[in-house]
Amino acid sequence: MADTAQRDTDVEGVEGGVGVTALLVAAARAIETHRADSLAQDVYAEHFVRAAPASAGWPVRLRQVPDGDANPLWGRFARYFGLRTRVLDDFLLDSLHAGGARQVVLLGAGLDTRAFRLDWPPGCVLYEIDRDGVLAFKHEVLGAVSAVPRTTRVPVPTDLRDDWAGALTEAGFDPAAPTVWLVEGLLFYLPSAAETYLIGAVDRLSAPGSALAYEVKLDKDLLEHRDSPLYTSTHHQLGIDLLDLFSREPRPDSAAALGDRGWTTSVHTPFDFTRRHGRGPLPEQNDALGGNRWVFAARPRP
Ligand SMILES: C[S@@+](CC[C@H](N)C(=O)[O-])C[C@H]1O[C@@H](n2cnc3c(N)ncnc32)[C@H](O)[C@@H]1O
Repeated sequence: MADTAQRDTDVEGVEGGVGVTALLVAAARAIETHRADSLAQDVYAEHFVRAAPASAGWPVRLRQVPDGDANPLWGRFARYFGLRTRVLDDFLLDSLHAGGARQVVLLGAGLDTRAFRLDWPPGCVLYEIDRDGVLAFKHEVLGAVSAVPRTTRVPVPTDLRDDWAGALTEAGFDPAAPTVWLVEGLLFYLPSAAETYLIGAVDRLSAPGSALAYEVKLDKDLLEHRDSPLYTSTHHQLGIDLLDLFSREPRPDSAAALGDRGWTTSVHTPFDFTRRHGRGPLPEQNDALGGNRWVFAARPRP
């Protein structure tokens, strides 16, 4: 991969840079887990938060947040991550059951614990791609709580701006078998060339019957809403400047690229799922979530 522009400023693990965003999602999942009307359960999430010096003081229950749901970060933004987790849990399991695939790849897996918490069909193999430092931290924390994966799990430490497809294949991935791919909370951090490569590689490695879900931000929204409460509260409360971590390059139209290659695609706002589940974030003014789109794609069998 040609574009390595972000590398100099990157931290390899979860202690800073884009890796710390994995802890942010983990804290949100911990809070979601203990809500009375929880959308998704992740009992491992709080262990990551507690184990990392960067996040050890963050809340893992809503009652630890003085203003509770009114807090833009630990209320609305955390609920967004809870909803996203639930929707993508459902996507993975539904796709496996409907399409018969038994291979799953999580790109930018971070502290996703789906391998440990979902009911996988027999014979599944789940590959997790993220950078070495993030996967090493995950291994350490899950080892300390004796977590046992509920399917075959293969960590693939590699940088998604490099030739990750080669690393995946070397790890045992079979391009002749259908695959369910998940790219959750990743693409806006990558240079646009890395997104184009990623979508091209997913296409090239996907046998008929494969499915893909990913999250993007609309180009026009990516760097707007700079003073959205979600961004400002994340910055003020945690010192994480998400806008600074996002790639500033124009984004490729990956859904169109997949359509050109014969995939069927559907594009949703998160609010579509808030309505479906009866809980989750709703649109508001100056909304950092307004341009988020969840894209679902499938490569039909002949
Ligand atoms: C917001 S977190 C999301 C993690 C996970 N998908 C989830 O939803 O829990 C973003 C993840 O992308 C990973 N990431 C960002 N840039 C990456 C790169 N160039 N190569 C590999 N992983 C990357 C980070 O390390 C981090 O774990």
